[in-house]
Amino acid sequence: MNALPLPAVLDARRFRDVLGHFPTSVVAITTATPDRCPHGMIVGTFTSVSLEPPLVSFLADRSSSTLATIRQTGRFCANALAGNQEPLSRRMSTRSGADRFEGLEWQPSPLGNPVLDGIVAWVDCTVVQIVEIGDHHLVVGRVSELKIESVRTPLLFFRGGYGDYLASATLLMDRLVGWW
Ligand SMILES: Cc1cc2nc3c(=O)[nH]c(=O)nc-3n(C[C@H](O)[C@H](O)[C@H](O)COP(=O)(O)O)c2cc1C
Repeated sequence: MNALPLPAVLDARRFRDVLGHFPTSVVAITTATPDRCPHGMIVGTFTSVSLEPPLVSFLADRSSSTLATIRQTGRFCANALAGNQEPLSRRMSTRSGADRFEGLEWQPSPLGNPVLDGIVAWVDCTVVQIVEIGDHHLVVGRVSELKIESVRTPLLFFRGGYGDYLASATLLMDRLVGWW
């Protein structure tokens, strides 16, 4: 039997290019050790999973240091970043662990995870399952508390760049009467 040709998706660049055309949210996943030392990373893979029971999830690279800490603490908080928090996202996705929270204001969630100032909403979770999938781990959390913090618009990620959300109604008003 002839060997099948390699699927085009195995070309890493093409895979990233095409998947980069699917917009994502920008979420800071945070946790803190019992001595209140904060840890966190940015993900674009946060999603709700189930209502009954209330479950959410995100995917972490298998090499993620934040994932290693979450395995120890057994809990995390998902912080939905606001449209003006691009600098915070850059800092939390590039700087080394300890520097990520330098100068950042945060309050502990009911479970003790960092809730960052200025975000849109947060979801506090206990880890119920971590499943290895390809080169990532799917982290599933059971929601123990959640809250909308502000009516700010969310930060988005698309084609390798950041953007703010604008409702269609706002865009329409701008095109029709230049209201924005
Ligand atoms: C918009 C955006 C989305 C990201 N999404 C993910 C993701 O879903 N999973 C992941 O493992 N890394 C993601 N990253 C990369 C991590 O934030 C980055 O590798 C970080 O340094 C990981 O930190 P850690 O290794 O200390 O946990 C994303 C980065 C950005 C800017």
